[in-house]
Order: sequence, then structure tokens, then C-alpha cells
Amino acid sequence: MLQLNHQVLLPLLLILLLTGCSWAIVCYHCDSIALPECSQTLGEVGVLPYVECPTELTCAMSIVDSITYRGCGAVTPTTGATYSKSCSSNLCNAGVYPPGRLKCHHCAGEDCVAARGAKPKPCRYHLEEDQCYTDVISSSEAYRGCVSEQNHTLSSVAVLCDINGCNEEPGARMQICASCDSATGRGCKMDLFQVNSGKCNVSLYEECQQEVLLGEPEDKYCFSYRKLSRVVRGCSTQIPADLEPHLDELEKCRSSESNCNAGCIPQQKCLTCDTLNQELCRTNVSAISSSTCGSAEASDCFVCEYSDWSLQRGCGAAPNNPGIARCYECDEQGGCNNKTFTRCYRCSTDEAGAGCANWERPGSIYIEECGDIAAPCLALSYSNGTTERGCQRKDLTCSSSQVANCRSCEGSFCNKGAFPEERLWCHQCNGTGNHDCEEIDRGQTALPCAVHANEPEDQAMACLEYFDTHSQQIVRGCRSNPDLYYECLLRSSHHDSCRICHSQACNNSPGKELRAAYELETKAMALLMARSSSQSSHILRITALPFIWLIFSIIIILYLASD
Ligand SMILES: *[C@@H]1O[C@H](CO)[C@@H](O)[C@H](O)[C@H]1NC(C)=O
Ligand SMILES: *[C@@H]1O[C@H](CO)[C@@H](O)[C@H](O)[C@H]1NC(C)=O
Ligand SMILES: *[C@@H]1O[C@H](CO)[C@@H](O)[C@H](O)[C@H]1NC(C)=O
Ligand SMILES: *[C@@H]1O[C@H](CO)[C@@H](O)[C@H](O)[C@H]1NC(C)=O
Ligand SMILES: *[C@@H]1O[C@H](CO)[C@@H](O)[C@H](O)[C@H]1NC(C)=O
Ligand SMILES: *[C@@H]1O[C@H](CO)[C@@H](O)[C@H](O)[C@H]1NC(C)=O
Repeated sequence: MLQLNHQVLLPLLLILLLTGCSWAIVCYHCDSIALPECSQTLGEVGVLPYVECPTELTCAMSIVDSITYRGCGAVTPTTGATYSKSCSSNLCNAGVYPPGRLKCHHCAGEDCVAARGAKPKPCRYHLEEDQCYTDVISSSEAYRGCVSEQNHTLSSVAVLCDINGCNEEPGARMQICASCDSATGRGCKMDLFQVNSGKCNVSLYEECQQEVLLGEPEDKYCFSYRKLSRVVRGCSTQIPADLEPHLDELEKCRSSESNCNAGCIPQQKCLTCDTLNQELCRTNVSAISSSTCGSAEASDCFVCEYSDWSLQRGCGAAPNNPGIARCYECDEQGGCNNKTFTRCYRCSTDEAGAGCANWERPGSIYIEECGDIAAPCLALSYSNGTTERGCQRKDLTCSSSQVANCRSCEGSFCNKGAFPEERLWCHQCNGTGNHDCEEIDRGQTALPCAVHANEPEDQAMACLEYFDTHSQQIVRGCRSNPDLYYECLLRSSHHDSCRICHSQACNNSPGKELRAAYELETKAMALLMARSSSQSSHILRITALPFIWLIFSIIIILYLASD
């Protein structure tokens, strides 16, 4: 059990009072005229006097004309101070001041650019937050010193630092870069004399140089550029105009060492083969291993197709042989020329009709040579029902917004066969200008149904067919087309005549059958019409009737007699 007595409680209470209600602050309070220790002691309790500041929350300390003042925030003088400090915890204005002054290099003018020689000098003022500066205006004008001295207006390129003597960096240096272009001479890609050493620097180049000023905003660097069979090296201030569009492809280095951009490019490896003597060169490139290119100048690989469809793969830039139909070049490492040109079927149901989707009629289906090497072949359908096939290209991709179904495959001519298989196909036609709609052959007009915006998801897909009593023609289509379905219900002679079915291309009833009900009805109607009109014009009928009966009797008699 802990027993609390008065000797423990009282100091505890005091501490609570002091810390808990500490919106007032306690500060050392003295000046070194009255109390020389004020500038020298480390401020132990008992040596320097202190006060509780009644209205402020900071302590301060300043040195004016070599006199040290300590006190509550606003009390110590600050005008003309060579050092001042304020702080906000109890008795924080203790200690010996000023601490060691910052030392910086001081100089001005042309010699100041190089900044060798002179030792750093202490700054004139004692500021806790002082900094050294180096301000290089040009290659012949620079300033160095302490920021607190304020006898030089810093420009925007001034470089600041806060460690003794830190403003010693040379204000200007020469950056030397290797400069060459493989388009104008050999040796820019690799060291021609040690092709097989893994790491090397090129040996045939000129040097360019550019002056780099400390703190200048322009980024200066050495660069090397590599694209297919071309390598260019040089200084960033002298970039050839034709590389301007490729600035973000440059490899850059800024080392102070000379020619940091002289590293050899890695030696290229390519597949080398020809279908004229090795059919695997087309059919199974994985059976052919890529081999290191013999020439130091072969930085890329190629694959070319001739007009007789033979293929050639190899090191370096694509050859210029007669008979070449097209070539592909690449510069990635490790047999990048293993790709093959593809061809795909190309068509659209908008032009080729149903054949492009159901693959049962060859008309208007073309062969497309894909522009991009190894492009996949696509078969896709849009939500408006159009089916399209072709090489994957910018305007034909599975990812475009209107695509409802898409199939992508690798290898020439793989985009064949009916598509899309998941969607119901219906014959879609009507009688006008398309006599095929009367009698349907398999595959003739069956097309995938379009996807309609408001199509109910739970409704089973269906085909429809009917005889349109208004336009007097056979109409076939998809129930998912709301307008068509509405017309089917409305314009067929009565409800049962709008025929619905659910299997692939099932709406193929003969036209005769579809119009049968209507024709029966019209005959009945005609009969009715005939009867009603016989009553409305009875004057004619009354005079004509005996005559008609007479003729009718004569015909009957003649007919019986001739038998
Ligand atoms: C600024 O003042 C310092 C100290 O008084 C002096 O050493 C330095 O040369 C001066 N710098 C300039 C640019 O006048
Ligand atoms: C290539 O040059 C750079 C920069 O000059 C150098 O650091 C590196 O050691 C050199 N490499 C070889 C393999 O000589
Ligand atoms: C292609 O060549 C590789 C390696 O020789 C072999 O394993 C593979 O079965 C071949 N593929 C075909 C389709 O012939
Ligand atoms: C070609 O080589 C790359 C790696 O270099 C590999 O990823 C790719 O599958 C290869 N392609 C063919 C068609 O062999
Ligand atoms: C269907 O949509 C595709 C893609 O938006 C378009 O290219 C095609 O012309 C459209 N076809 C019809 C008949 O509207
Ligand atoms: C018949 O087909 C044409 C063309 O497909 C279409 O414009 C027309 O609206 C159709 N008529 C009927 C009654 O469905």
C-alpha cells in the first residue's frame, strides 16, 4: 500500500501547478553590463536570475554592441543586434552565444568563378540561420560569401549551403562528351578492336565540349541515342536537328568524367535463316536459335518477306534486294526478329453481307496483309449488329467502345469461322428489292442480332418472321429489335401471325406459309364484300339478275349436254 504524506504531496502539487497551468513562461533575465556572467555562463540555475514573464510565451537573447541581453520575448533590444534568438520553453534562453560563426569563401569577379585558393572566412554577423552562397552570373563573373552580409544581391541561380567552407565548388566546368554518328562513320556503336569484350567504350569518336555553370537552369548532359541501325553520341548543346523529336529517347549522363556517353552498345543477337533452305524459318522459329551478330556495326535485326512469300531473317539493317515485299527491323536484345508477318481475313457484314459473319458464302471477303508485324487477327461484332474481321490495327481493336463480341487470335488466317457464336443469329431481310426473303436458304441472310440499348437481359433471344400487311412483304429479323417486334405484332394479320422461334436462324418459314393466313382472310373478306355490295346497288341487280340466271342456266345445260 502506498502511503502519501505531506512531504511527497506538496512538491507534486507544485509540479502540477507549474506544468499544468504553464501559459506563463520563465526566462533568464540579465544583461552583461550589470552581470558579466550573463554572457559567459552556461546558465545553470542559481547563477543567472530568472523571471516569470507575465504576458508572453517566448524567451529572448540578443547581442548588441557586444553586450548580451537575456529576458522575456519583447524586452531585449533587437535593433542593431549582431545576434538574436527567441525560443518558447522555460529557461530556453540559456547558454553561451554566439556559437561558432559560419565560415564561407568570399570573393567577387572573374577569379571567383574557379574558387581555388582562399580559405573560408567567418561571416560578419552571428546568425543562427546563416548560409554560404555561390552566385555564378557567367563564366567570367561570380560571387561567393555569407547570405547575412547582404552586400551582394543574390541572383536566381545562386546556390546556397550551410556547412563551413561549403561554397567552394568550381563555378564552371567543361563537360566533355564523345561525339559520333554511325550514319557517317564506323566505330560509333562498339569498340572495333575488342568486339567480344562485354563492357567497353567506343574508341573512334571526336570530343565535343560544353561549359556547365553552377546552378544554371539549362540541363547540360552527354547523350547517346540508339534506334535500329543508328547510334549517335554527343553534347546536349549540339543535338542534331533530326534527333529533336526524339529527345525523350536519349540516354543521358552528367558525370564530371570525360566521355561518360562512350559506352558500347551491347552486341546484337538475331535469328539468321532463310525459308529457301530451311522451312522452319517460317513455321517454327523457336527451333532456330539466335546467334551473335558477327559485325560490330549490326545493331539491329531484320525479317524480310519476298514477293514469292519466302522469308529471310538476319543481322543488321534490312537488305535492299530485288523482290522484297516488306521488312521489319527491331533492336531489342535477344532475337527480336522471331516475329512473322501475318495475314488475316478482312470483311464487314455492311459490305459483304451475312457471309462475313456466318462464313458460309465467300463473296467480298479479302485477305489483309497486316501493317504491324505479328498483329493478331480479329473477328468482332459491334452492338449495331455489324460483324467485322481483319488485322488488329488502330481502327479495329477489341477495346473500342462499340464492340459487343471480339475474338483475337495469333497466326495468319486464324480469324475464320462463324462469329459471334454466342449470340443468336436470325435471318434479317424483307421482301422489297430482296427476293431471297421469300424463300430462305441456309446461311444466306442469317446474321447475329444487334445488341439494343434497352434490351432486357432476362429475355431469351428470339427470331421473328411475319407477312407485313401494309407493305405486302415478308419480313424477318430479331425480336431484340424493339421496333421490328412492335411492327411484327401490329402489322401481321393477327397475333399468331407474328412468328417467334428461338434457335439459330430458325425464322426460315417459306413465304407462302407466312402469307397463307392473310390470304385466307382476304378471300373471306372479298366474299363478304361481294355480298354487301349486292345489296347496296340493287337497281342494277334487279334488272341484271334474270339475265345472269339465264346465262348461267344455258352454261349448265351446255355443260351437261357436252358430257
Ligand atoms: C561583403 O562583405 C564581406 C565582409 O564584410 C567581404 O569580405 C566581401 O568581400 C563583401 N563582398 C562583396 C561582394 O562586396
Ligand atoms: C568507359 O569510360 C568511362 C568514362 O570515361 C569509364 O568510367 C569506364 O571505366 C570506361 N570503361 C571501360 C571498360 O573502359
Ligand atoms: C518447334 O521446335 C521446338 C524446338 O525444336 C519443338 O520443341 C516444337 O515441338 C516445335 N513445334 C512445332 C509446332 O513443330
Ligand atoms: C520472340 O522472342 C521473344 C523474346 O525474345 C519471346 O518473348 C516471344 O515469345 C518470341 N516470339 C515468337 C513468335 O517466338
Ligand atoms: C456499326 O458500328 C460500327 C462501329 O461503330 C460502324 O463502323 C458501322 O458502320 C456501323 N454499321 C451500321 C450499319 O451502322
Ligand atoms: C426493309 O428493309 C430495308 C433495308 O434493310 C429497310 O430500310 C426497311 O425499313 C425494311 N422495311 C420493313 C417494312 O421492315
